[in-house]
Amino acid sequence: MAETVLEARGITAGYVPDLPILRSVSLKVAAGQVTLIVGPNGAGKSTLIKAIAGLLPVSEGRITLDSREITGIRPDQLTARGIAYVPQTDNIFRGLTIRQNLDLALRGAGAEGTSRLEALLAQFPALAEKQRDRAGTLSGGQRQFLAVAMALATAPRLIMMDEPSAGLSPKAAEEVLIHARGLADEGRAVLLVEQNVKQALRLADHCYVLAEGRNQLDAPARDLLGDTVLGEIYLGKRRLAPESGAA
Ligand SMILES: Nc1ncnc2c1ncn2[C@@H]1O[C@H](COP(=O)(O)OP(=O)(O)OP(=O)(O)O)[C@@H](O)[C@H]1O
Ligand SMILES: [Mg+2]
Repeated sequence: MAETVLEARGITAGYVPDLPILRSVSLKVAAGQVTLIVGPNGAGKSTLIKAIAGLLPVSEGRITLDSREITGIRPDQLTARGIAYVPQTDNIFRGLTIRQNLDLALRGAGAEGTSRLEALLAQFPALAEKQRDRAGTLSGGQRQFLAVAMALATAPRLIMMDEPSAGLSPKAAEEVLIHARGLADEGRAVLLVEQNVKQALRLADHCYVLAEGRNQLDAPARDLLGDTVLGEIYLGKRRLAPESGAA
């Protein structure tokens, strides 16, 4: 069995008090695996990632990292404990150079900063070549790789990526998703939100389907390829009854 790194149990959370977006949502993320979250627009996928990242108050439920409770812990402290988050939008500083972006991401790295920078530049040669250019001049795919590099600068055990392939060409999208798989193969736990469902199902290990802020279904990713239930959930033809929050 793969080692569980993150577990969320019965999470209820939202942006405004008494107006929950997520209702009793649960999931597990294991080391060495890509755990995928899919679901229609507005399902609560980004909200779930933000709640795990400590950016939203969790009114019910528990989140644990390596079996230790992290519910309600500040985002900077979660970073120190090994959680990194690549947001869906605005995930780099376009007006700064690539190097300045990386330096910002490395500011908590202390004595390891130099070696981590060297490792990142070796891992992302296209970024290394353009270190002095403004990040806004990068292609869409390169910008996503910069955002991923910034997350990796914190040496995370868990990296959460919110729709990293959105808006990219098919080739760049494929590269970004293959890279996410590679991060898991190196032993990290990867939590991936994707609208590119088929492609993501092919490389993920396990998939959670959210709709209307609730767990609808979860299964090994390959089992959902070609499964009609997934399409029905997307089209709103099939939903759990509002009372029956999945565990
Ligand atoms: N900052 C916010 N303040 C209030 N409500 C919000 C905020 N962001 C999102 N919501 C609401 O929360 C619900 C879930 O949104 P969320 O962004 O989590 O969906 P999503 O599954 O990530 O969708 P998408 O596929 O479009 O990215 C939606 O009803 C949305 O309107
Ligand atoms: Mg989203």
